[in-house]
Amino acid sequence: MTSPITDDLAAAAARVAEEAAIAAAKLVGRGDEKAADQAAVDAMRTALNALPMRGRIVIGEGERDEAPMLFIGEEVGQGSGPEIDIALDPLEGTTLTAKAMANALAVIAFAPRGGLLHAPDTYMDKIAIGPGYAQGVIDLDASAAENVAALAKAKGVAPKDIGVCVLDRPRHAEIIASLRQIGARVHLISDGDVAGVINTTKPETGIDLYIGSGGAPEGVLAASALKCVGGQFQGRLVFRNDDERRRAERVGVTDFDRRYDLHDLASMDAIFVATGVTQGALLDGVRVAHGYVQTHTLVMNSATGCVREIRAKRPLR
Ligand code: FBP
Repeated sequence: MTSPITDDLAAAAARVAEEAAIAAAKLVGRGDEKAADQAAVDAMRTALNALPMRGRIVIGEGERDEAPMLFIGEEVGQGSGPEIDIALDPLEGTTLTAKAMANALAVIAFAPRGGLLHAPDTYMDKIAIGPGYAQGVIDLDASAAENVAALAKAKGVAPKDIGVCVLDRPRHAEIIASLRQIGARVHLISDGDVAGVINTTKPETGIDLYIGSGGAPEGVLAASALKCVGGQFQGRLVFRNDDERRRAERVGVTDFDRRYDLHDLASMDAIFVATGVTQGALLDGVRVAHGYVQTHTLVMNSATGCVREIRAKRPLR
């Protein structure tokens, strides 16, 4: 059977992310996270429903009773064509958008049915590096300092030459202190760990390693991206209470302590697409000028190995 994960489908996914980004961009700097997210969700759902596929949301806006649109299990697409599982975050960085801060993205990943982990809406401890290292250089169960030391050795540099991206949260205080103690450069981000992980694959960002806990759904999206360009990712779900454990059970998690690697999260070929909403290190944001709207989109396909950046310019509607 031929794979449904084609570059044509990737181009279609790019248009879906563009629509979400353009819609969210209208709410940049307006101080309203919910409105920005809703605009992205509406636009992404409309665009998905125009695609000739039998799509099923596996990572979405939440469970059916809490998210009226793009909920987990919702079927999207025209109802004919290939069976595709979809992970999405129509607006990755709602606060970044509301406050007109850098690095907000519209993100979506496609895989054949069964190709993406059904991650619950909980936290996940994560560690990631870009391509070019022997398997096992990083270890989720080792300390942050040990990981920096191992990575520095593998890269042939000193720990002070290793850049580590960490979400700026009180829960990461110990990690941040230990990274600084070993001399690593700590790149703190206020939100947006999908981009944080992808930046480990881009030497120009100065980020070699991503460490810390963030959303589990974002973990699956980031793993889909690394699946396309190489790199390593390990994650473990973090549960703060029984409700979160029940959420995990509902999506089929049986081993609460399981350590997932990249290929557990994205087990088949995948398409990963992100469009910049606000200006960022990874992608330019949406720009409107002289009657046109411009977008910048990263499109990657692990099945063909193709990585594209699309700069689109279309008349304002
Ligand atoms: P939103 O787009 O939902 O605001 O999420 C942004 C984000 O920073 C993710 O990138 C990250 O995984 C998660 O939130 C971290 O969660 P928290 O803000 O609770 O630490």
